[in-house]
Amino acid sequence: MKLTIIRLQHFSIQDHSDLQKIWPQADSHRLESQLDERHRLYAARFNERLLAAVQLVITGNEGRLSQLMVREVTRRRGVGLYLLEDTLAQNPHVTRWQIANDGTDGAEAIAAFMQAAGFQFDAELKCYIHQQSR
Ligand SMILES: CC(C)(COP(=O)(O)OP(=O)(O)OC[C@H]1O[C@@H](n2cnc3c(N)ncnc32)[C@H](O)[C@@H]1OP(=O)(O)O)[C@@H](O)C(=O)NCCC(=O)NCCS
Repeated sequence: MKLTIIRLQHFSIQDHSDLQKIWPQADSHRLESQLDERHRLYAARFNERLLAAVQLVITGNEGRLSQLMVREVTRRRGVGLYLLEDTLAQNPHVTRWQIANDGTDGAEAIAAFMQAAGFQFDAELKCYIHQQSR
């Protein structure tokens, strides 16, 4: 079974259960009701299970990502990087990306991951940014 990155819009019972493991503090039903063309959720699915997810808000050609989270048991296997890269690739009209500095990992680990993903820290905005070249 292949790891695929999907835009989730309507959650199955299994999706709710998986998302509660990814974001234990979140109300997945409320999250689902807030999704629309601007407010999106992308997730990494493997063997019918969600392993990681990220939230995206699109405003014009800008995309703001937040809550990027890979389930602990699946970390350091390339899932986070693939989720981020494929989310960018699925939104080619977005040319300016930001990702909220809202991680739970240490600053060094996040910096190393962001560097691997091609994001740079913007001290003024206090978040990581990525400019897509056309
Ligand atoms: C940060 C996070 C999303 C990374 O996801 P992941 O699937 O574990 O990362 P990947 O396997 O795709 O890592 C890709 C590269 O990033 C770097 N990297 C990732 N995690 C790292 C860590 N803990 N320490 C150092 N470098 C790291 C490495 O260069 C890695 O490549 P390598 O494994 O070949 O060395 C994940 O650890 C996570 O969910 N953390 C908790 C939430 C969080 O802090 N999110 C960040 C929001 S800004």
